[in-house]
Amino acid sequence: MNIEIMDSVARRLLQVAGEKIIKSFKTELTVETKANWNDLVTNMDKSTEEFFVCKLKEYFPDHKILGEEGMAEPVDSMDGYVWILDPIDGTTNFVKKHRDFAISLALYVDGEGILGYVYDVERQELYYGRKGHGATFNGQPMEKLNPELTLADSFINLDYQEIKHFPKIGNALDASRGQRFFGAEALELISVAAGRAGGHINVGASSWDFAAGKIIAEELGAVVTRTDGSPINMLDKGKGTILAGYPKVHKELMDKYLN
Ligand code: IPD
Ligand code: CA
Ligand code: CA
Repeated sequence: MNIEIMDSVARRLLQVAGEKIIKSFKTELTVETKANWNDLVTNMDKSTEEFFVCKLKEYFPDHKILGEEGMAEPVDSMDGYVWILDPIDGTTNFVKKHRDFAISLALYVDGEGILGYVYDVERQELYYGRKGHGATFNGQPMEKLNPELTLADSFINLDYQEIKHFPKIGNALDASRGQRFFGAEALELISVAAGRAGGHINVGASSWDFAAGKIIAEELGAVVTRTDGSPINMLDKGKGTILAGYPKVHKELMDKYLN
């Protein structure tokens, strides 16, 4: 099947979903908790995922969909066409700030990331990557990352969880330009892809959080792995670690501070 058709369908769905989310700012959200008091889900997370599942199934009935809210049939293999969706990444930001959240959508074909979209709805910023074709920001080509950038000249995006988890991480931050953090995994990866952060670490992320950002960041020359350097399997259940960065920053963090 033609990737261009999938791309144009994905873009249209992102635009429509984004408009619905912006409209929801004027209505009252229904907020529930999931795994813990700080793991929120709203009616908009659910209805946005429902919208994508329904439309993607309509256009591509034989494709599979792996979504955070579990609205489609379970996916137990990456064979064929698999869409990976986080309808709202950064739900706590969405609820509390109405900004710093994104829709993350990716298409994997036989396990390989082919199309990745991170749509920062509030800023109306669409980041897009296509395997082997580079990445764009609102339609404009994004620059390749400088392979020479080191930790000493980098911001590192991470949260308190990572500071608690890795005993030497404070030393890494001392050796860098400092710590920054969004609270939305897809946007942390975009920070690296767009050259705003040299590295990013998360100890509790799921496939839907990073499936799209990984494709975009890698297209620009970033390295994205688990924190021990091992490759990521999109079917890994539960939350796992992520280490993304410019090549030298990724290596320095991994070798000196995380392992
Ligand atoms: C969460 C955010 C957060 C990250 C967590 C994710 P959600 O996603 O991306 O920044 O640290 O690992 O679960 O629940 O807002 O979609
Ligand atoms: Ca998420
Ligand atoms: Ca989410």
